[in-house]
Amino acid sequence: MIGRAQELIPAPSPVTGRVRLISANWKMNHNHLEAIAAMEKLYHLLRPEQFRYAELSIHPPFVDLRSLQLLFESDRMPFVLGAQNCHQEVSGAYTGEVSAPMLSKLGVGYVIVGHSERRRLFGESAELVAQKAVAVLAAGMVPIVCVGETLEEREAGATAAVIEAQLECVVAAVPLEALPKLVVAYEPVWAIGSGQAASPADASEAAAIVRGVVAKRGGEEASSKVRVQYGGSVSAGNAGMFMAAGGVDGLLVGTASLEPEGYAQLVRDA
Ligand code: PGA
Repeated sequence: MIGRAQELIPAPSPVTGRVRLISANWKMNHNHLEAIAAMEKLYHLLRPEQFRYAELSIHPPFVDLRSLQLLFESDRMPFVLGAQNCHQEVSGAYTGEVSAPMLSKLGVGYVIVGHSERRRLFGESAELVAQKAVAVLAAGMVPIVCVGETLEEREAGATAAVIEAQLECVVAAVPLEALPKLVVAYEPVWAIGSGQAASPADASEAAAIVRGVVAKRGGEEASSKVRVQYGGSVSAGNAGMFMAAGGVDGLLVGTASLEPEGYAQLVRDA
C-alpha cells in the first residue's frame, strides 16, 4: 500500500529521456465491480518504485471508467485512466458511440486507437484511425496508435511497409506540434493473444521504423520524443526483455493484465 501517491511521478528513462508507459488493455473483460476489485488488489501488490519507473495506464471497458475514476481519486491511486476506443466526432447522432471529450471529462489520459481488433473486426480504416487520433488530441488526451502486420504480411516481407502505411495516415493528420506526444504501439497481429510474442529485436526494428515515419514529417526532435510500446503476448516472463530492447518505451498488455497477481509480477519484472 502506498501512502503519498501525489509524489509518485514517473521519472524519464536516463537513457532515452522518455517516460516509460505500461498499459493494461482489458478488452471486453471485467464489469465495473470486477474492475474495482481488480484495481484494489493490483494497487496493494505494487510498490512505489513501480509507479516511479513507468506510467501505468489502465484501459477498462467504457462502463467501468466512472467507477475507476472515483476509486483512483478517493484512494489516491496513481494509475492513469485509459480508454480502448472513441468516436471521431465530438457529439451527434451516432447511436452507441462515445466521444473523446466525454472520455476526457472522466479523467482519461490515454486512448487506444486502431487496435488490430478494431481494424479487423469493426472495419476501421487507416483514415478513420487517423481521425480518431486527431479527436483524442483535440480533447487534450494522448492517442496510443496501434500498428502491426498480419502473419501473411510478415511472410511476404511487408512488415515495414504495413507499419509505415498505417502510421503515415496518422502522422499526416495530426497537428505538427502534437507529433511528439504520440504513443505508437507495435502490435504484430500474429502475436496478439497467441502466446507467441515477437522478439525484442523485432520490437526494436519496428520502433526504428516508427521513428523514421515521424521524423519524415516532424524531424529528429519529434521522433526522439515519440514513445513506442510493444504489444502481443507480453507476459511476466518476457516483459523485462522487451523493456530493455532499444527504442522500446513501454508495453501494451492484454491477457496478462487481467489477473492482478500476474500483472503485478509483470510490472515488477518490466
Ligand atoms: P495480448 O493482447 O497481450 O493478449 O496478446 C495485446 C493487445 O491486444 O493489446
